[in-house]
Amino acid sequence: MQSHKVALSVFAILYHAAVAACAHSKLLTGGTIIAYDEETRLPKVIRDGSLLVRGDRIDWISDAALPDNAVTGDVEVIDCTDNIITPGFIDTHRHGWQTVFKTLGSNTTLAEYFFRYSALVAQPLFTPEDLYISQLVGIHEALNAGVTTILDHAHHTWTREFAAAGLDASVDSGARVFWAYAFQNVENFGIPDQISQWRELASAMSSNLTTLGIAYDDFTNDPEGADTSAVVNLARESNVAVLTAHHVDGPWMLGNSPEDLHRVGILNSSIPIVLSHATSLTPRGAQLLRSTNQHVSVTPESEMHYGHLHPTSHLILDQASLGVDTHFTFSTDILTQARMWLQTTRYRVYENTLDRWEIPAGNPFSVNQAFLLATRNGGLALGRKDLGVLAPDAKADIVVWDGRSPSMLGWSDPIAAVILHASVGDIEHVLVDGEFVKRDGKLVIDGYKGVQDRFLKSAKRIQETLKKTPLPPQEGPLFGIGYPYGQVMEIDVQRDEGTGYGPSYA
Ligand SMILES: *[C@@H]1O[C@H](CO)[C@@H](O)[C@H](O)[C@H]1NC(C)=O
Ligand SMILES: *[C@@H]1O[C@H](CO)[C@@H](O)[C@H](O)[C@H]1NC(C)=O
Ligand SMILES: *[C@@H]1O[C@H](CO)[C@@H](O)[C@H](O)[C@H]1NC(C)=O
Ligand SMILES: [Zn+2]
Repeated sequence: MQSHKVALSVFAILYHAAVAACAHSKLLTGGTIIAYDEETRLPKVIRDGSLLVRGDRIDWISDAALPDNAVTGDVEVIDCTDNIITPGFIDTHRHGWQTVFKTLGSNTTLAEYFFRYSALVAQPLFTPEDLYISQLVGIHEALNAGVTTILDHAHHTWTREFAAAGLDASVDSGARVFWAYAFQNVENFGIPDQISQWRELASAMSSNLTTLGIAYDDFTNDPEGADTSAVVNLARESNVAVLTAHHVDGPWMLGNSPEDLHRVGILNSSIPIVLSHATSLTPRGAQLLRSTNQHVSVTPESEMHYGHLHPTSHLILDQASLGVDTHFTFSTDILTQARMWLQTTRYRVYENTLDRWEIPAGNPFSVNQAFLLATRNGGLALGRKDLGVLAPDAKADIVVWDGRSPSMLGWSDPIAAVILHASVGDIEHVLVDGEFVKRDGKLVIDGYKGVQDRFLKSAKRIQETLKKTPLPPQEGPLFGIGYPYGQVMEIDVQRDEGTGYGPSYA
């Protein structure tokens, strides 16, 4: 990926255009391209440019628009006049299988989640068909929102059938999914059985958009155990594409810190490792991530919704990417995460200055950096420099935004237009691996109505059962052994009765 290839002259383009006359080529022309410049390591805005997709990759990007007749042969020309062209977003933490719970967890807490929606308790609600359709529809939701790559922490591996259903849905979705099979303690289907299924799946995996990964959350609880060493050995000997774990400490004490992964000998390896949340990262843990070039996945909306908060996250954004987490409770799109996180980080850093009664002398976090976090950094977290960028030889995972939408009209900076003004409704086209998955504002899915109907049937049944299930009590120590629950002031925005603020002055 050399930067001289980014800005070609028109002569060079005409030369290339002749070469480009082969099957499966697409020419996006006339748009503003937010490319990536390897030399400056910054986004590079190319106005009125064009981009040739050949097969699954970007062939070239030029700083000139091409007239339709400049291209001959089997090249599909997509007119992007007035539009903004960006890489697809990368989500480095999600649980796709939970889509059927949509809107049930809108006021939930992390502790309530454990006992109501998590992999620990949800299995009896599902059949493998429910699991398949929930995963599939959740990925469609992501594609619709311009999320083209997902690292799925798949902790629905309760039986062989359930595991296979989630993998099949990922393969069928048309998204680029790093499907991380969770090795976890399940009755009648232990980690050795899960590992043997993983090996079978890996050997049957032909090259397509879904890649098998590993998820494991017991590095801290069981550092010396046979299961942990079996998982570490599997990761090493298969040279797995990615390994992910929930790093949730603070009073929850779920562990999986960089220190703990380093202790079992897995952090310092060529395997990309993504620690989700990492909201209680220590200074030592942060340095370990830097020295081993491993990443965290900040899931801003999740950490605010559930209450992990972000005491230290603003101090590790050089080894960070963005994720969504439980999309049944809130936004599915990385655009919203990027915007929330941009402003949350600004708030956090401004606070340092204001705490000293000083006037902030600059803005701490630019839209360009937020854009990189939502795109290229996700690729880096997955060890993939060819994801999350528009550059020659990168994968053709592309989003085309309607630059004349009411929300963006009048932009001069396309990065600000996307990060701070656009919405998912402004996405016209999404391509993954060079193929349209959304076109002219609509998902490209055969029989989508049938898929929706199947999904609604599963969602209705599961939601009805859950609504009849009493909420878990939130008192005593967490899991019977942890820190105790504490009171939360309830906020009611209406005057009079029921506010948590104390006596009423009605
Ligand atoms: C959210 O909380 C309010 C107040 O407790 C309740 O009325 C509402 O039903 C809750 N919504 C959901 C989806 O749980
Ligand atoms: C993709 O990989 C899956 C999982 O191994 C396999 O079952 C499927 O046939 C592959 N699909 C294509 C189109 O190669
Ligand atoms: C990681 O491994 C490299 C190469 O073996 C070594 O030089 C480096 O010190 C190790 N880093 C840590 C944090 O252990
Ligand atoms: Zn999670």
